[in-house]
Amino acid sequence: MRFRTHPMMFRRLMAALLVVLPLAFVAGCSMQDYPQSSLHPHSNYAQWIQTLLEQLTFWVVIIFVVVQALLIYAAIRFRSRPGAPDPKPIHGNTALEIGWTIAPALILTLVAVPTVLTIFKSQAPPPEDALQVRVVGHQWWWEFQYPDLGITTASELHVPVGVPVNISLETADVIHSFWFPAMGGKRDVIPGRTNRLWFTPSDIGQYPGQCAELCGTSHANMRMALMVQAPEEFQAWVAAQQLPPIEPEAGTLAAQGKQYFTQGQCIVCHMIQGVSAGVIGPNLTHVGSRTTIAGGIFPNDAADLGKWIINAPARKPGAKMLSLKDMAMSPEQVPAIVAYLQSLK
Ligand code: CUA
Repeated sequence: MRFRTHPMMFRRLMAALLVVLPLAFVAGCSMQDYPQSSLHPHSNYAQWIQTLLEQLTFWVVIIFVVVQALLIYAAIRFRSRPGAPDPKPIHGNTALEIGWTIAPALILTLVAVPTVLTIFKSQAPPPEDALQVRVVGHQWWWEFQYPDLGITTASELHVPVGVPVNISLETADVIHSFWFPAMGGKRDVIPGRTNRLWFTPSDIGQYPGQCAELCGTSHANMRMALMVQAPEEFQAWVAAQQLPPIEPEAGTLAAQGKQYFTQGQCIVCHMIQGVSAGVIGPNLTHVGSRTTIAGGIFPNDAADLGKWIINAPARKPGAKMLSLKDMAMSPEQVPAIVAYLQSLK
């Protein structure tokens, strides 16, 4: 007996797929698994954008439903039937034409008003009491300076919850784009000018971000993290960052490491307050207090730090940091340098 799919069955199957597939697609967007989703706002700025998106989606869905309903109705009601006469030609209908000119104009107004209001709100100057942060994009890591607090750090931006953050954005080389999806829209970082962005983080937590503008070989490895902390926790972090770097005890491995660091080429690029004055690579004064290295792509542990020092370009394509060989240093020095950097809490 031959088995054939009945056309009716086929149509039902297709209809079922049309319903199930989009549902499966939407269900796949469970936000827990996507920390960089821009649909889970955690700041006032991100919330404004979210609200706007919801309003626009509301109107778009209404338009979609009305247009599809009319289309389906017309297709069925006026389908061709055997023996039916040709439809009567119509020439103009003033009422209809006025109607379908006014309706879209009204809808566009409903879209334009909240959009323009949101633009003005988000581009207004930040509140007076905002925390000032200067962000500098580098190939391929982010530098964070707190000019009023005298702190310079990298890859991890600490801010207190509920306090507006006023960010000025600059670049040391090419165009980058600063983006913490949970905090709102991205903003380009452009050579020769200072862009601005401000937001008030609304929830304590750690939010990933990254460069959102193709900026060279390791664009994808230019990550960062936003640490939104309770006010007292943030104050404790500030106090620790403002201290001079820890001086390793004489005779320890870390003390040996400091010697290698200062005698080697490390000091050409890196600053450790009171120890070295390089400004090309990240400031290492309190590097031991950070959770990641290398633009946020590796954990800040002894193994990864060691591998990074031995051959940075091999671990991160295009990295500006020289390999140990090119710095004319030996692998035997690495454990001591690692111990020194880890001691800089
Ligand atoms: Cu910086 Cu992409």
